[in-house]
Amino acid sequence: MNNKFKNITYVTVFYTVICLIGCSNIASTSIASNDTLVSDTLYSHFKELFHVGAAINEETILGYDSQSEKIVTTEFNSITPENSLKWMFIQPKPNEFNFLVADKYVQLGLDNNMHIVGHALVWHSQLADFMQDIQNSAEMNAHVQNHVNTVVSRYKGKINAWDVVNEAFNEDGSLRESVFYNQMGENYIDQVFRWAAKADPDADLIYNDYNVYKPLKRAGILRLVEKLKSNGTKISGVGVQAHWDLNSPSLKEIEQIILDIASVGVPVSFTELDISVLPSPWEMVGAEVSQNFSIFEGDPKMNPYPNGLPDVIQNQLAKRYEDIFKLFVKHKDKISRVTFWGVMDKHSWLNDWPIKGRTNYPLLFDRNYQPKKAYQTVLDLSTTD
Ligand code: G3I
Repeated sequence: MNNKFKNITYVTVFYTVICLIGCSNIASTSIASNDTLVSDTLYSHFKELFHVGAAINEETILGYDSQSEKIVTTEFNSITPENSLKWMFIQPKPNEFNFLVADKYVQLGLDNNMHIVGHALVWHSQLADFMQDIQNSAEMNAHVQNHVNTVVSRYKGKINAWDVVNEAFNEDGSLRESVFYNQMGENYIDQVFRWAAKADPDADLIYNDYNVYKPLKRAGILRLVEKLKSNGTKISGVGVQAHWDLNSPSLKEIEQIILDIASVGVPVSFTELDISVLPSPWEMVGAEVSQNFSIFEGDPKMNPYPNGLPDVIQNQLAKRYEDIFKLFVKHKDKISRVTFWGVMDKHSWLNDWPIKGRTNYPLLFDRNYQPKKAYQTVLDLSTTD
């Protein structure tokens, strides 16, 4: 008997005995699901290839969502804080730091021996209000240096990888005119990476962005990597957010992301993977319309599955995840981590973006914390190509 089946048999016997002894009140914990959890989990399935992670919210970090915590500690070997380490929460007022939730986040990762990600040090969004008002370069430099140094030093040797700068590029590959760009100048990214490297020389330092499948935007990011490297500034990888849907980007476009990033000598991390199954408002109204889609709120056409996902779409989602993970396996030597943006569908940000109040199904665990067909499809994949 091969070892995997032997283990499953032992585990089955073990749970059967336990249940006979006296746990008839936990009948919902089926032997079959325990078999799956004990014998093969997402991270253990891919552990020779890359880390498999999840972004976790404050409820999970603070221990208010034990079902989510159970999935996180069983299925994943990496965590990212969905919101809790962002500037507006960590340093809401000048030099007033609040590490309460962040400390618990890091402790959760340490307790479970996980690869811990810090997200995100420098990002124009979810920034503290006071930062928006700074009109002076020296002052801006001082605040950013202080923030990077204070936060990275606090978790030195604990947080393994930082999203150092997030979403700094426009779609055409030029640099976004953020408060950082406007006050610190076009070399601000290099500067921020240097401060981060000084504060923790062993941490992986990542540049993270969305829409990396778009060639012009990707070209801008690749130029940045090459520039930092030629300046002798440490950059450990590119984070590709991967907020995708059932059809876009194509597999060819995804493969090109991996090949192009590898060609500049750094690994790829898929940092925020989720697959929307809902209609896209951009397709309905065209790209020139602003991102305020409140006109669609409550429109049943834009929220077609409020009471459950039809099998036909569930199967499409499973196939989409299968295809994407096949590609990840094929390019395992170029990929260091795959992180899902959330744990289960009900808590996904995609229920409220880009249209509020929809019912989306982008992750591998459903609204009752149960694994979906896509979960099993991913687990059934061969890890050799
Ligand atoms: O903190 C307030 C809270 O005080 C208030 O009671 C509550 C009421 O709605 O809102 C809370 O703020 C929310 C915040 O998440 C923290 O929970 C905001 O409304 C909400 O818009 C915000 O959304 C987050 C979004 O970033 C903001 O840009 C999502 O949860 C989070 O998943 C998302 O994550 C980003 C990544 O960091 C970067 N890449 C894109 C990704 C998706 O947008």
